Amino acid sequence: MTFSLELKDRFASEFLGKDPKNELWKDAGSALENLISGKGKGSDFLGWVRYPQRLLSSELDRIVSEAERIRSQSETVVLIGIGGSYLGAKAVIDATKPHFFRPKIGSPEIIYAGHHLDGRYHSELLKYLETREFSINVISKSGTTTEPALAFRLLWNLAKKKYGDRASQRVIATTDSAKGALRKMSEVLGFSTFSIPDDVGGRYSVSTPVGLVPIAIAGIDVRTFAAGFRDAADHLLSKTSPEENLSCRYAVLRNRFYREGRKIEVLSNFTPSLSTLTEWWKQLYGESEGKDGKGIFPAGVNLTTDLHSMGQYLQEGERNLFETVLRPEEASADPVVPADEEDLDGLNFLAGKPMREVNRQAILGTLAAHSEGNVPCIEICFPDTGPEYIGNLMYFFELACGISGSLSGVNPFDQPGVEAYKRNMFALLGKSGFEELREKLRAKGI
Ligand code: PA5
Repeated sequence: MTFSLELKDRFASEFLGKDPKNELWKDAGSALENLISGKGKGSDFLGWVRYPQRLLSSELDRIVSEAERIRSQSETVVLIGIGGSYLGAKAVIDATKPHFFRPKIGSPEIIYAGHHLDGRYHSELLKYLETREFSINVISKSGTTTEPALAFRLLWNLAKKKYGDRASQRVIATTDSAKGALRKMSEVLGFSTFSIPDDVGGRYSVSTPVGLVPIAIAGIDVRTFAAGFRDAADHLLSKTSPEENLSCRYAVLRNRFYREGRKIEVLSNFTPSLSTLTEWWKQLYGESEGKDGKGIFPAGVNLTTDLHSMGQYLQEGERNLFETVLRPEEASADPVVPADEEDLDGLNFLAGKPMREVNRQAILGTLAAHSEGNVPCIEICFPDTGPEYIGNLMYFFELACGISGSLSGVNPFDQPGVEAYKRNMFALLGKSGFEELREKLRAKGI
């Protein structure tokens, strides 16, 4: 069993007041128990807790073989989805794929659509795809979300023109097993499909076909990723004492900081391939906890890049922050700094050192500076950014999020607030059924 995460609080513990042993720890234990036994707020959306252990090898085999089929006919695959329907897969792909590679048929690039409504982007995308052998993985649990539905309409139209009768062989749809427009279209048009379990919400769905299909299409070892997820579930669900459970520890720490007035958590990384994981984490925590007038605001920075912009704020701005740092211990490849006879740049003091050593000292220097500047820093350490450890990390965060939401008394598995902009947008675009709201918005001069 591989579960290789460590949580270090050496740059955090001095900021904590008295350890509320009997409150938060007890509540975290109950929250964990509820997640394990399928109780508590939002209990009809707890399918993700054991999904990694329940995933059938036959389902994984079909994912791998469908991904191979799509790879063998594509130079480019467009992943259409928004929120939980694309961020998890993008996070894993960006974390594990080489930064630079030449896409070709059999080893396609993955690009994204349907995660916003910008016309120029979609127009350039359509032009680009005219000259590429492309396929589409469209993902929408509801099957009716406007952004991905609209992007799919545009791309399907192009696929039909370009591939005629064979266009449907270029689409995989991942959606509800029975409901929604995308399921209906898939049946009528004969797309290959995968189902999203009813009891798994979007932001907790990366270990289901929502994440696994695009991860496999990207050429990542999806079995290893799924095993990393399962290993984390096996490990964390067996640690029922909250003090021994890493997800509980993280949930308790962040809530202790929150209760002491630190309303913003900054997730930082010193590894550019983890920047999308930060976006996934922001969605997971923001959508799960930001409700009922409560919630830690999840922010993210990419370092050392942002030390030259946000670094000033982190060091000396308002002290309502705490920081959590993602720390893979090893870089898979690592140039050594060459010596230079003339040393015009003055960098010979680094000669012979691997880049990772320079980055490691930058991390320690930053943590020391931030904690001296009154920002507590939690470290999450793991061996490297391979798919098994990213699987470990994502399950750890999901479980911690379920626990953390319960600690602040919210339902971490719904997102009622997301509807507000949609209603206004539909009213402004003249969708039928929204006439009254349209009048109200008009009256406000909108
Ligand atoms: O976490 C969530 O539930 C949301 O972010 C959804 O994933 C997002 O709104 C997309 O929904 P759908 O998959 O129904 O298109």
